[in-house]
Amino acid sequence: MKYYITTYGCQMNVHESEKIAGILASLGYESCNDIADADIAVFNTCCIRENAENHAFGNIGMLKKLKSERKDMIIAVGGCLPQQIGKAEILHKKFPFVDIIFGTHNLGKLKDYILKKQKQKKAVIEIEQSEGEICENGDEPLRTSYPNAWINITYGCNNFCSYCIVPYVRGRERSRSSANIISEAKSLVREGYKELTLLGQNVNSYSNGSTDLTFPRLLAAVAAIDGKFRLRFMTSHPKDFSEELAKAIAENPKICNCVHLPAQSGSNAVLKAMNRKYTVEDYLKKIEILRKYVPNCAVTTDLIVGFPGETEEDFNATLKLVEEADFSSAFTFVYSPREGTVAAKMPNRVPEEVSKERIMRLIEAVNARTREQSQKYVGKTVEILCEDYDPKKQKYLGRDEYGRMAYFSGETDLVGEFVKVNIGSVNGISLYGKIEV
Ligand code: SAH
Ligand code: SF4
Ligand code: F3S
Repeated sequence: MKYYITTYGCQMNVHESEKIAGILASLGYESCNDIADADIAVFNTCCIRENAENHAFGNIGMLKKLKSERKDMIIAVGGCLPQQIGKAEILHKKFPFVDIIFGTHNLGKLKDYILKKQKQKKAVIEIEQSEGEICENGDEPLRTSYPNAWINITYGCNNFCSYCIVPYVRGRERSRSSANIISEAKSLVREGYKELTLLGQNVNSYSNGSTDLTFPRLLAAVAAIDGKFRLRFMTSHPKDFSEELAKAIAENPKICNCVHLPAQSGSNAVLKAMNRKYTVEDYLKKIEILRKYVPNCAVTTDLIVGFPGETEEDFNATLKLVEEADFSSAFTFVYSPREGTVAAKMPNRVPEEVSKERIMRLIEAVNARTREQSQKYVGKTVEILCEDYDPKKQKYLGRDEYGRMAYFSGETDLVGEFVKVNIGSVNGISLYGKIEV
């Protein structure tokens, strides 16, 4: 019996697919590389932007023929898309051949749904509206991102940025106990993982209720675990980014000098309409504090163009922020209205052509900075954690602590090893070098 999982969306979803794989393994399924061979195909979906939804709809639709030829195959659709109000029904209507539809709050029950479906003809459609307690005793996740391991520290989000669907599909913010997080981190280091990434929609507001550990203290506690490994975390909300966190990064060498701090916009009017709760001045001040303690800290970000009412002047302020904040890279998005959010009802939509033209200019500005920063690497030796082998390029690849990708040749299997690489050239944003012996 074989399974195939298709994952859309953020790291949170990538890790949740590892949990789904764990559940399937406990039922005796093994992974396969071709969906056509699968006895169960799971789509773990995202709805952050319309194109994420369209992708999922398209790929699920393509299974109709396969399913008609292989009636026993089970198709399950879970994650953020069906968690939206009314979407599970739409999915069922559009794709009656889908066997199981579940949401974000009941992933832990997937095993029951599969067993139920094996006994009945009717589709199993189960969406829970409330987030419930954090489940700590499920099946072990089947991790797929060695040498990195994802660790959830919070679930859900309380921020309600006006454009964002996440609080509606992931529920209110809940923090895992620090004891559980630290013990998971310890076993992962013992198992040989070389990079731990703590995950939450807004890690800075982590608190387990008993207030015994704030986020900076939790980070320090994980960094104190014996062994050589890197510690990363995402995502930080600028409004909760503290001086204490900057100090924790400076004091613990295992915490990478690299922070993902989504700015979203460089215009105060837009930030206000987005309900981000900081001004561009506040944002730059946070970066200043961060770099006071961690002088070379890389800052990466997320930026949205075409938010309702965004003027050319607002957009130019975002371009200016790219310069001022000296981002080392940025994810750039065209605003996508999400039903049920506050921004979806806002007037003054920005025409698509304008948004498209703005995002091109923004990408160019971001890339110019990234290329400029990459150039500074030439001639330097950096420590790279080797992550993978690229058969096309016939080279190993990995990242330095700032998150910059480097390619290099190697004779033995280097995945999971820390290696010193001397950078000889730059192609676009990637570095190319030789291992130093
Ligand atoms: N919790 C994280 C990330 C959430 S989603 C945070 O607060 O930063 C990742 C990114 O998707 C966001 O940072 C934002 O830039 C983008 N995004 C969210 N909703 C969007 C929408 N409706 N349209 C376009 N981009 C969006
Ligand atoms: Fe969405 Fe804002 Fe929460 Fe991030 S902080 S998940 S952008 S509502
Ligand atoms: Fe998408 Fe859900 Fe993540 S909407 S970005 S998969 S939290």
